Amino acid sequence: MAADLSPIDKAKFLAAKRAIDFVEGGMKLGLGTGSTAAWMVRCLAERIREEGLRVVGVPTSSRTAQLATQLGVPITTLDEAKWLDLTIDGADEFDGNLNLIKGGGAALLQEKIVATASDQMIVIADAAKDVTQLGAFPLPVEVIPFGWQTTKALVEETLVSLDVLNRDVTLRMNGAAPLVTDESNYILDLHLKRIGNPRQLALVLNQIPGVVENGLFIDICDIVVIGHADGRVTVRDINSGETEEDRVEFVPTSNIFADLD
Ligand code: A5P
Repeated sequence: MAADLSPIDKAKFLAAKRAIDFVEGGMKLGLGTGSTAAWMVRCLAERIREEGLRVVGVPTSSRTAQLATQLGVPITTLDEAKWLDLTIDGADEFDGNLNLIKGGGAALLQEKIVATASDQMIVIADAAKDVTQLGAFPLPVEVIPFGWQTTKALVEETLVSLDVLNRDVTLRMNGAAPLVTDESNYILDLHLKRIGNPRQLALVLNQIPGVVENGLFIDICDIVVIGHADGRVTVRDINSGETEEDRVEFVPTSNIFADLD
């Protein structure tokens, strides 16, 4: 199965595998959402199986909770854990300051709460997520269903005075109906193309009644682990300013892939 992975999946897997090296016994972990985070849960489950690693995870979505349970990763709630040692999650984009766009998988609200309640956040990503300026990926904004069209109009009005290149706002759909998040909200996708001032945009969006949270993660991420399809992995630490590059062994026979067959 592993040999069949696409270059992008291989890069995601390598980033996830390297990030799991940061996990130590006894840690309380935030478990992210998305395809890269799913690899992380698999790699974590492998360490639990093979080393008897004792950790507990707080999932950031019902999907991740289901996967963790299926793979034997112990989980709890954030209210039970209260504060976490480390959160590992994917991202849709990250810039040179490790500011992020997240929410492509519609889990940004729980993801931001969990990452903020952690001593450290590590983002795992393939190299395509590395951008000079955020905004090519549509910015997800979670809004309550009540009066969502009015909220959308207010978001559009707010964007007029901000440093963005484009201002289209769309309601995310799931087939013919609006997509509903784990918190029973809707997602507006802001097609901005370029975000000149992510910090200002994040603050202003959250002032609009009806907006629950936006997908800009500012000053939350500490480390990004970037996987490359050729086996290289880059680790960039925003606090120390250091960047390291190494290679992660890709083991095609690993039973980590067993349940994917
Ligand atoms: C989930 O809501 C998102 O924040 C994901 O972390 C993000 O979309 C990255 O997903 P992939 O790892 O699937 O690219």
